[in-house]
Amino acid sequence: MLKIINVVGARPNFMKMAPVMEEMRLRADHLQPLLVHTGQHYDEAMSDSFFEDLQMPRPDINLEVGSASHAEQTARVMMAFEKVLKEHQADWVIVVGDVNSTMAATLVAAKMLVKVAHIEAGLRSFDRSMPEEVNRLVTDALADLLLTPSPDANENLLREGVAQEKIRFVGNVMIDTLYRHLEHAKSSQILERLHLNKNHYCAMTLHRPSNVDDRATLTGILDALNAVQERLPVVFPIHPRTRARLDEFGLQSVVEKQRNLIVTEPLGYLDFLQLYSNSRLVLTDSGGIQEETTALGIPCLTLRQNTERPITVTQGSNRIVGNDPEVIKREAWNALDNPPAAMRVPDLWDGQAARRIVDAIEEAGQ
Ligand code: UD1
Repeated sequence: MLKIINVVGARPNFMKMAPVMEEMRLRADHLQPLLVHTGQHYDEAMSDSFFEDLQMPRPDINLEVGSASHAEQTARVMMAFEKVLKEHQADWVIVVGDVNSTMAATLVAAKMLVKVAHIEAGLRSFDRSMPEEVNRLVTDALADLLLTPSPDANENLLREGVAQEKIRFVGNVMIDTLYRHLEHAKSSQILERLHLNKNHYCAMTLHRPSNVDDRATLTGILDALNAVQERLPVVFPIHPRTRARLDEFGLQSVVEKQRNLIVTEPLGYLDFLQLYSNSRLVLTDSGGIQEETTALGIPCLTLRQNTERPITVTQGSNRIVGNDPEVIKREAWNALDNPPAAMRVPDLWDGQAARRIVDAIEEAGQ
């Protein structure tokens, strides 16, 4: 029996872990998984609704660390997770993505000599001002099994001196979840609720500290948004960090003035899938949404200076446009007037990544 502790913490982790948990349940005769939620995200909209939408089992253990500074949040996860690892003898700890919880759980397991598998290993933005880049570097330096979503990730790891035999190209597990729920998402009433016509609106998300924590930058993005919403309605589900900054900077009125800007609370997985999969254009600074739009061929503008997911640009529908308002406006016009030609879905973004992931863990064994 292989004892496995699966760790999730924040919103973008849940859709990556769901298919892995499902695959492990199918192998219950020889795998014994435990699900630990660090509690980094804790709101109904940022956490609970995802467990429902994805039909994921409730966590066996919730560490309830909540929000705090980077150091404090990381430390709280480490202290609580160390107790879990002491109590439950595990052969493997499985971590996903690049959030603080990912790095914290990896550090604890490495010091307790428990093997770590990192799902979505090897992605690099080469920008250490992003907290996620630091999390990726630390996690990959310590992990025993590095499960990559794209060939560029393998190249990054090899360049950093990671041994070839620790690296496995398994594909993109978030796309397993996307394909699995595409049909189901059609029952969402989000388009009716917001009075939207398919292919006649844009969807936007924004939460990176580099975009929302600086008043001038956030004001510039709202200015670009104003121009886009004059052409087509824009739906903007607001992340809690962004909501807090809009209040702090007194920018709520700038948002409210925009007639065609539809602001909502953060949406659940199925509502958001139905929303972006029927949109004409997506504007985002998220990592995962760059991949989801590529898988579906929806034009995407990424409001960042770089991406750790270059395959979404070279093969997919993504363009990196930064956060200069004039550039965003120009690129949005361009994308609306000249939608990109057909793109190619990257290799192994085929809905079967979870099976390859669990195979790789089993092969690595105890
Ligand atoms: C985190 C991840 C980021 C990921 C994002 C998705 C890190 C370093 N960052 O950023 O990679 O893209 O999640 O959302 O791990 N808050 C709530 N309710 C919640 C969670 C957060 O109100 O359930 C508020 C709190 O005020 C908190 C702020 O949002 O201080 C930021 O939350 P935090 O988890 O620190 O980082 P995110 O910006 O969400």
